[in-house]
Amino acid sequence: MARSLLLLLGGAGLLGCCRPAASLDNGLGLTPQMGYSSWNDCGSTVNESWIKKTATYLIDSGLAAKGWTQVNVDEGWMLGRDATTHQPLEDRELFPSGMKALGEWIHAQEVPGKGKIMKYGLYTCRGPTQCSRPEYRNRCLHTGPNPPACTTPHPDGQCGCEGSQGYEEIDGRWFVEAGVDYLKEDSCSATQNHSGAFAQYAKMRDVLNSTGRAVFFSLCGWEPWYAPPDPVVGYAGGASLGNSWRIHGDGKNWGALSGAVNTMAVLTEFTGTGGYNDPDLLIGPWCGIDHDQSFCGQSDLQARTQFTLWALFPAPLLISQNMLTWSKYALETYSNEEVIKLNQEPGGVAAVRIAGDDLIGPTKPCADPEGRLNNCTNVWGRLLTQGNELAIAFVNNGPTSTEVHCDATCFGKIPQRPGTKLCAKGYKVRDLWSHASLPSTVGLNLSATVAGNGGQRLFRLAPLAQ
Ligand code: GLA
Repeated sequence: MARSLLLLLGGAGLLGCCRPAASLDNGLGLTPQMGYSSWNDCGSTVNESWIKKTATYLIDSGLAAKGWTQVNVDEGWMLGRDATTHQPLEDRELFPSGMKALGEWIHAQEVPGKGKIMKYGLYTCRGPTQCSRPEYRNRCLHTGPNPPACTTPHPDGQCGCEGSQGYEEIDGRWFVEAGVDYLKEDSCSATQNHSGAFAQYAKMRDVLNSTGRAVFFSLCGWEPWYAPPDPVVGYAGGASLGNSWRIHGDGKNWGALSGAVNTMAVLTEFTGTGGYNDPDLLIGPWCGIDHDQSFCGQSDLQARTQFTLWALFPAPLLISQNMLTWSKYALETYSNEEVIKLNQEPGGVAAVRIAGDDLIGPTKPCADPEGRLNNCTNVWGRLLTQGNELAIAFVNNGPTSTEVHCDATCFGKIPQRPGTKLCAKGYKVRDLWSHASLPSTVGLNLSATVAGNGGQRLFRLAPLAQ
């Protein structure tokens, strides 16, 4: 409600000014995107055969039938630009069939019982150059028409790989011609000034809109200011520009992702049907590549906690890890339909942090030197759309397992809809990870033991008969 009111006000601001009210109105993002992104799995050395194997795994494992249908190629596929047409040139060594043929292949895959529901995504960057990790920088072209990219060399003196700045019209149409259902646009080497960033993203949005093909537009600007409207620069908020927008830097481990959780906590009113705050990819219990160095980011437990919170927020669910060698535990994590259902609830509202404060990373002590704060635990909650049911998650970043509570004050912070109220008598409790019913609460009081170092519990609560 608050969000639509703000969007309306933002839109009115635009109408009152000199520009037509532009907006993203592609009918997509009714629930958050679900699927795979190559970034934390492959770094920039993503290739066609890996993408095909991964898409096949999504289907064969049953994940695609549960909603994980989006297959996104991140940075690394584009070699440069054609000297005459200035259209993107694909790296044909890594993608021998080309990007359009890869899209056709993905679209042709049959998901048992569901049909051809797989979707295809590509990546670009709104700056003159992409982020260009060293491997990629050495591989992409550095001869005309690349010179624009070479005017902003990397600190080590090498040019980056060509981005979309100034080529939005050509690139947007090229992506649509390649059959994409999804475009991620990154922000490396681009202006970080609000109105400059909004204007650049608006260019790509308008090109995509003008093609008539509905393309899910995913902004990757790493800043919380993409979410709210900003009347000073005539900005109507994230949902006017894209279907999702990154609100935080890259989450390479649970510590960094705990920071994204804190950012999410102050932006929940801006997420919802049509456009979502994006706290980054589901990195899983991964050992992946960053800056061409491999390292491990999360424990199994933390990966499950990330998925739990992202599902509850609700946030984009893009698995970005090597699924081909992952554990049974990992497959079980992302196959949990009760959790997926929270994320994909039509018209689902945002969860809010109802107890605890800024979650500190699991490697830091819970109390500050004065022994003042204990921000190792969080409780997040949300009213579901049917039956006045609630979903509540507990998180513990402390070093050891602990008892977490949600009392009447905590329950009372779950926003209600007109006509709904908490059930003072209590709730039936279902544990969404053990798939078991637990004893009902007596009144508004839920307690549970939560493992340390990024453990979680997730409950669905149904009101007791009054
Ligand atoms: C940025 C983005 C990541 C990924 C890389 C590619 O860091 O935030 O998600 O796309 O660029 O270099």
